[in-house]
Amino acid sequence: MPSSDFALFMQQVLRRPHQVVALAPSSARLCAEMVAGLDPAGGPVIELGAGTGNITQAILGCGIAPGRLHCIEMNPEFCTRLRDRFAGVTVHQMSAGDVGMLPLDTVQAVVSGLPLLSMPVSLQHDILSGSFGLLGPQGRYIQFTYGPNPPVARAVRDALSLDWQVSSKIWWNMPPARVYRFFRRTPST
Ligand SMILES: C[S@@+](CC[C@H](N)C(=O)[O-])C[C@H]1O[C@@H](n2cnc3c(N)ncnc32)[C@H](O)[C@@H]1O
Repeated sequence: MPSSDFALFMQQVLRRPHQVVALAPSSARLCAEMVAGLDPAGGPVIELGAGTGNITQAILGCGIAPGRLHCIEMNPEFCTRLRDRFAGVTVHQMSAGDVGMLPLDTVQAVVSGLPLLSMPVSLQHDILSGSFGLLGPQGRYIQFTYGPNPPVARAVRDALSLDWQVSSKIWWNMPPARVYRFFRRTPST
């Protein structure tokens, strides 16, 4: 990560602590776990809360074509940096709560660096229901968290019938984190 990106990130942590909610950008190890299993031949990918683009870089590093990656970020300074850094990636300056309005379908994954735990349950619901409206049947909503519990509120998980898989703890991150992959529970027959 260029030092100017790190400086911008830390500047925004101080200026908008309630939006950024992180001690540092995601580490290379956390980014690698977030993008594990993405398929260059699969559907489009959406990234939520892209920041200065560490996870964006990892998504492209998996072979996802820039034209198939859509980043949502509400911070205007981060959006400018993302557009400068990643030619061909579509950067939407908007709230992730409106993700369901993107004109996409059969999305293979929504990769989220959002501070979901610090968001109201109603906003979490908008983000998750909007995402699952665009994801294909095998699609995953991928979210890291620093906490010990699933980063999506139980009420939202129940309302959308979500189940999950969780990674082991990634110690090489500040602070250590886990990655959750949420998917729709298959209806029992
Ligand atoms: C913890 S930082 C993650 C940055 C980067 N993805 C990383 O992992 O290093 C959270 C990011 O989410 C963005 N964000 C917070 N709330 C948002 C919202 N409602 N809609 C879109 N972006 C949001 C912040 O501006 C910030 O860039």
